[in-house]
Amino acid sequence: MSIAEQFAALGVVPVVVLNDVKDAEPLADALVKGGLPCAEVTFRTDAAEESIRIMAQKYPDMLVGAGTVLTIEQVDRAVNAGAKFIVSPGFDPEVVDYCIEKQIPIFPGIITPSEAAQAVKRGLKVVKFFPAEQFGGVATIKAMAAPYTTLKFMPTGGVSLKNLKDYLSCDKILCCGGSWMVKGDLVKAGEFDKIAQMAKEAVELAKEIRG
Ligand code: 3PG
Repeated sequence: MSIAEQFAALGVVPVVVLNDVKDAEPLADALVKGGLPCAEVTFRTDAAEESIRIMAQKYPDMLVGAGTVLTIEQVDRAVNAGAKFIVSPGFDPEVVDYCIEKQIPIFPGIITPSEAAQAVKRGLKVVKFFPAEQFGGVATIKAMAAPYTTLKFMPTGGVSLKNLKDYLSCDKILCCGGSWMVKGDLVKAGEFDKIAQMAKEAVELAKEIRG
């Protein structure tokens, strides 16, 4: 299965911010136990690269990628650590073109038709839509998908159990990203059982919606 097909099968992609590499293994374990063996580990913290390495080594079947990737140097660091995909919050042509050239799956963020056009021009089939809730959520995605018929969207930003159904009911949406099942305070408190439970709820709801 391609990365996009794996995202679609799960329905949700956990967006992870780790401050301490010691949390990488128990977090991966919790996500696997919760039936959501996937993580977008964001390069917002210094722990990202090593956390990806630990997760990819300990759980080789897990779909581990890097998020908040802003530079090609971070692309290299992420991929060398074992990231299977790259996500960026915005559309940086340099980063996108570099990933395409190296055949690294890239899911850049877009929010406007002009950026959608840039993605389509490069043959991308899936883009992140960020920040989703703040920019009109599913209604905006539907409007944007009308002219850009080949694109599928991965909305992130403000998605939760409360609005997951609205998003996943739209066939232009591949899957949703979000941090609600991997909340920073739960990670900090070492409440990995709770994270496993929330991951399970998320993936079960996604399956129920998608049928
Ligand atoms: C991201 O980088 O994709 C977002 O920060 C995640 O948004 P959320 O925390 O609202 O789920």
